[in-house]
Amino acid sequence: MTAPIVRNLADLREMTRVWQRAGETIGVVPTMGALHDGHLSLVARAKEMSARVIVTIFVNPKQFNNPEDLENYPRTEHEDARKLERFDVDAIYVPDGPQMYPDGFATNISVAGLTDVLCGAHRAGHFDGVATVVTKLFTQTSADLAFFGEKDFQQLQVVRRLARDLDLGVEVVGCPTIREIDGLAMSSRNLLLSDQARSRAAALNEVMEEMAEALGQGATIGDLLPEAKTRLTAAGFSDIDYLEMRTNDTLTQVEKATKPARLFAAAYMAGVRLIDNIDVPLAR
Ligand code: PAF
Repeated sequence: MTAPIVRNLADLREMTRVWQRAGETIGVVPTMGALHDGHLSLVARAKEMSARVIVTIFVNPKQFNNPEDLENYPRTEHEDARKLERFDVDAIYVPDGPQMYPDGFATNISVAGLTDVLCGAHRAGHFDGVATVVTKLFTQTSADLAFFGEKDFQQLQVVRRLARDLDLGVEVVGCPTIREIDGLAMSSRNLLLSDQARSRAAALNEVMEEMAEALGQGATIGDLLPEAKTRLTAAGFSDIDYLEMRTNDTLTQVEKATKPARLFAAAYMAGVRLIDNIDVPLAR
């Protein structure tokens, strides 16, 4: 069934008030649109866990540090609504810029520590933009539950932190990364890759998987980095922003897999910034 597209906060509140009065849990899937199977897996999880499901679509200007990136970000609202039909969600919330950031908007939500590293260190202001919009989306939708992919693992941890710190009363549910057959993590940005760049991009996950296996066997990151970087460069990746192992909880950098940790990478393929992260087995 086609879900109602709600563009106005007052209309959204009218809906959520009725659901809340009936004691129904509200699950929210925040997105920037260009929905793929990764997003749809979040919607499926939200449907399992919540009485009411709202999918939000808003390309948030505050989280883009590069104006060209914001301009090129795919916008496919009609197609997105069609993909959501089979899930029978209760509302698709699509606020516009002024609805989200009215004239004079002056508030910034900033999560310290977790945002100093990885994408936070390479994309100035990105996580403040994410934290600010997510806080607004949580309060606007009266969310009880919110669903985020592990593909953006740092984002997931930042959102968990802010939900706890600000007592937002939202349970943040992390969901596994969904991958293409060749291992590339699904991402709206994959749409920006040419066919050739798209097939080369699979090398990112391939190299990471091999590194994770070696780390599990006791190798150090230092042992593996030179060859990994050479292979990524040979596959066509340029500007590797990071390729690091960090602990799951505090994102502290580690050399050996002696605590629960993940391998994180961000690199450019044909001008498109791709990120990925995978679990590393504990070193034997
Ligand atoms: O992951 C995303 O698509 C965005 O960062 C989010 C969470 C929707 C906030 O704009």
